[in-house]
Amino acid sequence: MQYIAEKVITWHKSSGRHDLPWQKINDPYLIWISEIMLQQTQVSSVIPYYQRFIKTFPTVEKLAFADHDVVMKHWSGLGYYRRAKFIMQTAKIIVQQYQSKFPDSVEKLLSLPGIGKSTAGAICAFAFGGIEPIMDANVKRVFCRFYGIMEWPGKAQTQKYLWSLAEQNLPSNNIQIYTQALMDLGATLCKGSQPVCSQCPLQLKCVSFKSNLCHVIPAKKPKKTLITKQVNVLIVEANNQILFQKRSDSSVWEGLWSTPEIQDFSYTKKWIKDVLGLTKFNVVKQGAHLAIFSHYKLQLNYNHILLTETFSHQQLKDFLWIDRPKIGGEGIPTPIKKLLQNI
Ligand code: ADE
Repeated sequence: MQYIAEKVITWHKSSGRHDLPWQKINDPYLIWISEIMLQQTQVSSVIPYYQRFIKTFPTVEKLAFADHDVVMKHWSGLGYYRRAKFIMQTAKIIVQQYQSKFPDSVEKLLSLPGIGKSTAGAICAFAFGGIEPIMDANVKRVFCRFYGIMEWPGKAQTQKYLWSLAEQNLPSNNIQIYTQALMDLGATLCKGSQPVCSQCPLQLKCVSFKSNLCHVIPAKKPKKTLITKQVNVLIVEANNQILFQKRSDSSVWEGLWSTPEIQDFSYTKKWIKDVLGLTKFNVVKQGAHLAIFSHYKLQLNYNHILLTETFSHQQLKDFLWIDRPKIGGEGIPTPIKKLLQNI
């Protein structure tokens, strides 16, 4: 047998979990319910829900003909409620299309609502003894650490590689013990933080242990690199008032009052002349303010301009002078407010 399989199967005998309520059974219906509940949910949270659920719905027929609200009540508090919807759909399909018998192939299981590749593998292995791989979050961590995989395991290419490793490591016997052992190892020793490498049966050949990389493997999901949009704004000030312009273009700020935008600061003189009819001003400060949104960053480059010429505040269409203390009010984009607070 191969190294990983041999080591984890031996380890499981002495140190694995043996008394989980969905163990030592081979009813595919019960195994399916447990595996769906265990998706993204810890064993300790699942146990009472599983026990209550199978008491009320002991067979796939009972579930297929159950009242929707009663099923939801049994799921209430477990989270990820899409799963409850999926099990009701799948139960009906099993009864109507499979004569209440669960299919025993990964391919057919995968066609059922709520069953992904890893869940299909687990059901096949536990219920039918199928030599099929699994790759849930715990197992990803074990394989990433053992093989020293530095990439984020959610990356498509890395997932593909992990599945190929899972295939290669399958034992030809004891698939139930092997599958449970991998899950147990990930949950009890090869944990996300503070793994207990001293007790790990894979320690001798684990790349991460040997290279002291367990704290960086598995890699975290890389942060999205957000594009940065650049906007040049003029902060025109006179008599403790700031000049605002109504945004009428189809920008996110449409209808809001913002500091006027300019293509290029080299046009400032022309802009002041064309819009305000003035020629005397000082650029008192130049700088940039960064605003971060969910999908992009906005770099607001600004020139703070103090008008030095006396002039009458005539009403200009789409322009408005606002007293500095009133700038915190409604109708002004938050990044602009923040920028003005800082100057
Ligand atoms: N996580 C997913 N399936 C599991 C199982 N059968 N036992 C423990 N944890 C699991």
